[in-house]
Amino acid sequence: MFFRSACRCHALSAMIIAVAALAGCHQDMYDQPRYEPLEPSDFFGDGRSARPLVPGTVIYGAEMADDVLHTGRSDGELATELPLELDAALLRRGQERFNIYCSNCHGRSGDGNGMIVQRGYRQPPTYHSDRLRGAPIGHFFEVMTNGFGVMPAYSIQVNAGDRWAIAAYIRALQLSQFATLDDVAASERAKLEQAAATPPEDANP
Ligand code: HEC
Repeated sequence: MFFRSACRCHALSAMIIAVAALAGCHQDMYDQPRYEPLEPSDFFGDGRSARPLVPGTVIYGAEMADDVLHTGRSDGELATELPLELDAALLRRGQERFNIYCSNCHGRSGDGNGMIVQRGYRQPPTYHSDRLRGAPIGHFFEVMTNGFGVMPAYSIQVNAGDRWAIAAYIRALQLSQFATLDDVAASERAKLEQAAATPPEDANP
């Protein structure tokens, strides 16, 4: 009997030693020599513990260029023209990116009634107001780059080229809501006129 309890006692002290050893380990890692941010140092000549960045270092994901393509402005003024060549591929890319990143709030047509808004998020303004139809294209680029009011910035997820593609597509959306028959190519106009003349099929006569 005595023997058994002595045995347990040994096991217990072994455990205590093991736990103490582990805790000691933790303390070593925890208290390892290191500098806190901005802490001075005697080791380096300039007295600073933080080392200067290697010349030419770029912030990850940041676009440092200050041209119109990256800022949306030229000579401090919002760009009034797309700094990229406008073609069908650019618009398709803009449409794809818009539907991924913007339509959840702004709606696929840009009316500001996307699914997140229907679930209670603050409603953005429609793109089809006179104010936004008259806004320079650089404004759309800038809103995406820096965010606007409660809307977050998208420069991390969407690179500068894609932000311009989206801006171009927003212009197309704006045109789509105010287009007249004269804007339609002659070859397509006949189809539209024919469709308008045909009465819609009534599913429940
Ligand atoms: C999470 C929802 C949300 C997403 C996603 C979103 N926006 Fe917005 N956006 C808003 C809200 C809300 C406002 C209004 C902000 C305010 O007035 O505080 C707004 C405002 C705007 C405006 C109007 C600025 C003005 O002058 O009134 C533009 C343009 C715009 N967003 C473009 C975009 C584009 C382009 C994208 C996609 C890259 C996008 N937004 C993605 C919510 C969103």
